[in-house]
Parts: sequence; structure tokens; C-alpha cells
Amino acid sequence: MKKFFALLLTIFFLAAPVHAQDLGVGLEDISAEKYNAAIEKFFNTLPAAKGEYKSNLRPILIEGAMNTETEILIRALKNPAAFRELNYLFVAGTYKNYPVVVVRTEIGVANAAAATALAIKKFNPVAVINQGTAGGHDPALKIGDIIVGAHSFDHTAFRSAYSAAGAGIDLTKQENIGTYAYDEATKKFQAYEKFFADTELFNMAFKVANTHKNFNVVSGVISTGNTWLECIDYINFLNKKYGSSCEEMETNAVAQICQNSGVPFIGIRVLSDNVTNDNRYLPETAKVSQDFVLLVVENYIYDILRR
Ligand code: 5AD
Repeated sequence: MKKFFALLLTIFFLAAPVHAQDLGVGLEDISAEKYNAAIEKFFNTLPAAKGEYKSNLRPILIEGAMNTETEILIRALKNPAAFRELNYLFVAGTYKNYPVVVVRTEIGVANAAAATALAIKKFNPVAVINQGTAGGHDPALKIGDIIVGAHSFDHTAFRSAYSAAGAGIDLTKQENIGTYAYDEATKKFQAYEKFFADTELFNMAFKVANTHKNFNVVSGVISTGNTWLECIDYINFLNKKYGSSCEEMETNAVAQICQNSGVPFIGIRVLSDNVTNDNRYLPETAKVSQDFVLLVVENYIYDILRR
């Protein structure tokens, strides 16, 4: 009898329509927790820095939110030394004989901003690259594709239209109000609806893309917020109204801090998921972003910093 019911249940589940668009992503998945332990172990073997950071050349700062998004970068560093500030991990070393610092910012806008501000104070970077995974907002993009952020914006910074109690919620009736950053010309903080990539870094990314055809690279718009959206209508709204290519949780916050301090910035993201056309979440795509970014860094060192 039990077997009969088990068979019935199996038939039911096999026959039931698949909710192809539901990523079924849980909190554990979002933090890529299942990958973390082994990498954490490796990070704990890194020698602690002795004294303050010293370098004749201003380092390049590369950021990733999670262990999975920083492991390859950190392993690529020669003579790594670990600094821990307010529990954020910064690893300073060299790459292609040029000073590079990798920071694990942790997830979300506040962490990314704090880690970036600390890094700018501590390491005085010549450029900042924020990279990692993202969720696609454009059905033309596939998991594994790389988006070089021509600009970013904060898709949670909005003023909603007025609607009366009981009238329902329509998130599409909103106006972006930007996020506040320092403007050197007026010497004031002002609202920026978007932050643009540094032109040299942007061009460098496409130089690499053109010579390394194994990466599928597009220029796009990165939407940032402490959100994980799977509501297709809202995603389509962000795509249509703001040209959003993908969403993630750090880029715009970092761009904001870099604008405050006049440091050239770029955001580069690989799609780990795209709810508009796929039902998978593959955080291991973080490798693609790091491999690509290391090539951008190498070219930036040779073409820009050593010219
Ligand atoms: N929505 C939001 N953040 C995402 N990330 C990857 N995919 C998404 C998505 N669909 C990134 C964020 C954050 C972590 C969860 O991975 O930047 O750091």
C-alpha cells in the first residue's frame, strides 16, 4: 500500500508542471554558504600583515562580496598579506609585479561601501574594480555572460507615486531619486541617478573582450540594491525604464564611494542566474568574472599604469 502511494506521488510530481522560472533560491544559496568552509580555511592560512601597508605605487583594488568571488583573485596574488579591519578581509600582494589589494566586502550595499571606504583610506588605490555574480534582467543574456557596467544605479532609491490606503501596490509608479555622493566642482554632496564607469577601465575591459573570445562580454547597466528579485513584471520594468541588464547588491554603493574620493571605478559582473530565461542559480560562475578581471588588471597595468 505504502509503495502504491509512493508511486502515485512520484507520478504526480513527474506530471506536475515545472515552475521553470522559480529559482528556488534560499538564504543559504544567496550567501553561497555551501562553498565557503574550504575557502575560509585557505584564507585563514594567509600570513597576517606586519604593520601598516606600504607601497611606492598605488595599488589596484579588486573587490568581491563572497569567498567564492574572491578566492581566485587572492590565490593569484604573490606575497599575500592579510589585513583585517572591522572584520573585513583585505589581502595585499602583487600581480604581474604590480601591487594589488583584494577585499572581501561581504554582501550588500552597506558592507560594500564600508569596505571600500576603509580600503581607500588604508591603501590609496589608483583604481577600484568591483566584480562578482549578478542576476540577469535581460532575456537576451545567458548565465555565464559578463556585463561590463557602463553605468550603475540604485534600484531601491525611489520615490513612489502617491496612492491611497487600499489602492494596492504598484512599484512601477516610481521615480528614481539617486544616491548622494560628493561633487568636486560644487564641493557638495548631491544626488546621482547613475554612476558611470571610468573610461580607461571600460575600454580596457573591451580590449580584453576583443582578444579573449572565450568570454561573452557586453556593455550594460548594473542595478544595485539589497534585493533579490524574481518578480518578472518588476524586472521587465527595470529593464525597460532604466535599461537594467542585471541586478546585484554592491556595485552602485562602491561607485558612490569612489565618486566621493575621485578614484576611477568600474563594475564587472557575470550572470549566475537569469530568472527571465533560466531556472538555475550557479554561483560557481564567479570564476568567470575573476578570470576575466585578472586579464583586465594585467592589461591595465601594462597599458595604463606603466605607460
Ligand atoms: N539578485 C541579487 N544579487 C545577486 N547576486 C547574484 N545574483 C543575484 C541576484 N539575482 C550577487 C549579489 C550578492 C550575492 C547574493 O550575489 O551581489 O553579493
